[in-house]
Amino acid sequence: MTDPNPNTSQSCQLECLARQLEAAEQERANALSLLERARAELARTQGERDRAVNALIGLRKETFFNLARDAERRDGESPMHTVRIGAYASLIATSLGCTPAWSEMLETAAQMHDIGKIGIHDSILSKTGPLTTEEWRIMREHPRIGAAIIGRSEEPLLQLAGEIAMTHHEHYNGAGYPRGLCGNDIPLAGRIVGVADFFDALTHDRSYRKALPVDTVLSMIRERRGEQFDPQVVDAFLRISGQIKAARQRIVEQERFSQATDGWDGDWWMLA
Ligand SMILES: [Fe+2]
Ligand SMILES: [Fe+2]
Repeated sequence: MTDPNPNTSQSCQLECLARQLEAAEQERANALSLLERARAELARTQGERDRAVNALIGLRKETFFNLARDAERRDGESPMHTVRIGAYASLIATSLGCTPAWSEMLETAAQMHDIGKIGIHDSILSKTGPLTTEEWRIMREHPRIGAAIIGRSEEPLLQLAGEIAMTHHEHYNGAGYPRGLCGNDIPLAGRIVGVADFFDALTHDRSYRKALPVDTVLSMIRERRGEQFDPQVVDAFLRISGQIKAARQRIVEQERFSQATDGWDGDWWMLA
């Protein structure tokens, strides 16, 4: 039987199609909104995850810093020794033409150079008299201990810190320890921190000896150019000896100030 009114049937079909289209459109809109919500949720959880990871990395660095400072304190060094080494290392790197980003990372990483001393017994670390041969052997293990503690990380800063911990006592002529590396086989960061550590150690009092005058230590570094120290690092260091002296003075004054205000509950300007 034929449709008595073909126009009505066609318009019904069109209406039906329109409703189906509208329903499909609604479903698409619902799906899009679900997708949007899922994206927002993913971004939120990723943000939370990144914050948690960053907090963990920060906590790890802080732990290593505290361990390194504790090791220096047990060895009779002031906690500012690590800060000074970082500052000198960064100045030397800049003088050598290293990038600002690397010099900045070196400043932080260098502060953990002696973290391995936490593995050395107090009877050796705090001994005021000369060390016996056996005690020296144990003391010379601190680079390996430091590298083992810090160097397994995938974090570039901690990898650099591990490299410095391992190599800051190597000598350019191969007479250093623990591996007796020579020349450029010693990573640049280790060659830089070697000079910075030597300068700082000799220009400050220790329990068993007095500090040497800064200019005397500068001459000693010059004399060791190409022997204990990389000639290019020595040249870079001597080129900026004015900046090194100024940085040393600034940090020494900061330390004096913080000692003077230790336990002080007034305002800092009242002491000025
Ligand atoms: Fe050391
Ligand atoms: Fe040191």
